[in-house]
This record gives sequence, structure tokens and C-alpha cells, in this order.
Amino acid sequence: MAKEILLTGDRPTGQLHLGHYVGSLKKRVELQDNPNYKLYVFIADMQALTDNARDPEKIRRNLIEVALDYLSVGIDPNKATIFIQSQIPELTELTTYYMNLVTLSRLHRIPTIKSEIIDRKFGESIPAGFLAYPVSQAADITAFNAKYVPGGEDQEPIIEVTREIVRAFNSIYGDILVEPKMILSENEVCRRLPGIDGNGKMSKSLGNAIYLADEPKVVQKKIMDMYTDPQHLRVEDPGHLEGNIPFIYLRAFCKPEHFAKYLPEYDSLEAMENHYQKGGLGDGKVKKFLNAILQEELEPIREKRHYYEAHIDEVYDILEKGSIEARKVAQETLKKVREVIGIEYFQDTTLRQMYHEKYKEVK
Ligand code: TRP
Repeated sequence: MAKEILLTGDRPTGQLHLGHYVGSLKKRVELQDNPNYKLYVFIADMQALTDNARDPEKIRRNLIEVALDYLSVGIDPNKATIFIQSQIPELTELTTYYMNLVTLSRLHRIPTIKSEIIDRKFGESIPAGFLAYPVSQAADITAFNAKYVPGGEDQEPIIEVTREIVRAFNSIYGDILVEPKMILSENEVCRRLPGIDGNGKMSKSLGNAIYLADEPKVVQKKIMDMYTDPQHLRVEDPGHLEGNIPFIYLRAFCKPEHFAKYLPEYDSLEAMENHYQKGGLGDGKVKKFLNAILQEELEPIREKRHYYEAHIDEVYDILEKGSIEARKVAQETLKKVREVIGIEYFQDTTLRQMYHEKYKEVK
């Protein structure tokens, strides 16, 4: 049986953080090991340029950072194809054809785009390329015939637009594009991990992220600074769990075996939560437990990163090989797309014949 294709990417505007990790990176590593799937992972530098056109250096500086993060979490170049978006020019041509199948008002209505326009304070000055990035994302996905896109919740409305473009394309030109579905984390907390300050989701622009590359001391400091329950002043006071960041993170990271190892007085997260709500469990203790768990999870990632940091040429090789391999696949899709639209004029003998017939009499 042919393998099902999974594809996903990240904008290189900064290092990747715990939100990326629980929302998508972990899933990718798990799926790359499944023989039923083939995984493509790419660095979306063209998409990053849609709101950073005047600061390309930022993208250049973060390109290898993202590659290092991929390799350090265990995305394996022998199993997955890792590539750079801008090295596949076929994607831009596909984008041009897809652009005709979606309206400007549809793009304006995408919730993710709406909130990004507000976050970036574009006002009325929205770069056309930014508004259209969901169209180029449709090209990324369809070029590789991807059926599944692992990612965070915020990607869902964008993938919906890909599906609309695919349906429109297939109904007009012929059934050649694959309609993708998202793969979200089963754990709801992981789909939208909040930042350490409790203000919305973790993001580099909000400055509330724990990065995969953070050193142990930095991770610990960020955990100690986490937003908890402002009404929980003394240990004896009853505490609240809503919006309590250490508890939300425990729901994302804590496994039963962590209790025996680091906090044997509780046998489950529920028991710990109950105690906190009743009163008698201090935030410091919760944070210490979370710190032990996160340090354990991040240590092997950091170690792997240090290896690749010392072997940058290896990282470049992986990206270059991956980009060459990916380009071949995109070229095949583009060829089919051009054929069904009917613009492969020099190969299209039927069109030539049609003109011969039409002007036969003229001679
Ligand atoms: N939008 C994604 C992000 O913000 C990056 C991305 C670009 C992507 N093209 C994609 C993700 C295709 C999944 C599939 O990080």
C-alpha cells in the first residue's frame, strides 16, 4: 500500500518552543516511525517573509535555529524529508493558479488571519502576500499530496481554505489534488499551550515562551515566574486551577510515573489538584515538580541540539538533500496541474491539431 503523506512546517522567525513541541513536534516524531506514513517537514521562510519583508535578516538568522530544533527533538532525516520552502520555486507557481480560486473576502474572514492582522498592527496596510499566505500554504500542502497536516489549533481555519481550493480545483480541472485533514494533539491542553504569563497562547511575539533550546537555569526561572492564582496567598488558602499555568502545564507534561519519581506523596494529578483546591499545597512545590518534569523532558533535546550545533555542515547537508528530494515531488505535481489546466502548449498535440483543422481551408 502506498504511504499516506504527512506534511507540516514552521516559520523561521525564532526558535521553537514548548507550544510547538506539544502541539506538533512530538506528533511528527511519533508518526515518522510509523511505516504507513511518509513525513515532510519544512521551514516556511517564504511565509515568514510575508510579514517580515523588510527584515529578511531575521529569517536568515532563524533558519538554522529551526532546523536545529527539528533535529534535536528527533525528526530523523533518514525517515522524514526536511526542506526549505523557498528552494522549491514550483510552490510559487502553484500559488498563482490557486489564487484565482479564492476570494479576498474569504481570506479576510479567516479567524487566524484576522487575529494576526491585529497582533501585527497592520491596520489598513496589510501586505497582499500576507493576506494570501493561506493560498501559498495550500500550495505547500497539495504539492506533496499531503493527506494529513499535524499542527496547532490555529492552523485549522487555514487548512479549511486549502480544502476549499482543492475542491474548487478538482471540480473545474479534474480530480488530481488531495484534500488534507489536520492532526491535532489528543490532549486538549496541548493544542493551545498558554504562555508562562497566562496571557493567551505561547508565542515568541508575546515574550512568554519556554524555548526548547533554553538552558536549565532559564527554564527553572521561567517556571518560578509562572502566573498562578493571585488569590492563593498563603499555602493554607484554597487555590484555583483555572488559568493556573503550572497546573495547565502539568496536564500537558505529567505522566503517572513522575509522581513515584519526584512527588510520591501524591499518586495522581487529580489528587494533587484536589489538595491545591482545598488548601495546603503551595505554588512553590507545584513549580518544583513541574521543573523536575520539564528538565527531564528537555535534557535529551538539548543534548542532541548541542551535537548538531557543533556539526552545522551536517545540518546544511540535510537541508540541501531534503530540498532536492522535495523539489522532485513538487515538480511532478506542478506538471500535472499545468496539464489539466491546459497550458502545456508545446506538449499538447490535440490543441495543435485543433488549429490545423480550424485553418485548413485558409491555405
Ligand atoms: N503556518 C505555519 C506556521 O505559522 C507554517 C506553514 C506554512 C505550514 N505552510 C504550511 C504548516 C503548510 C502546515 C502546512 O508556522
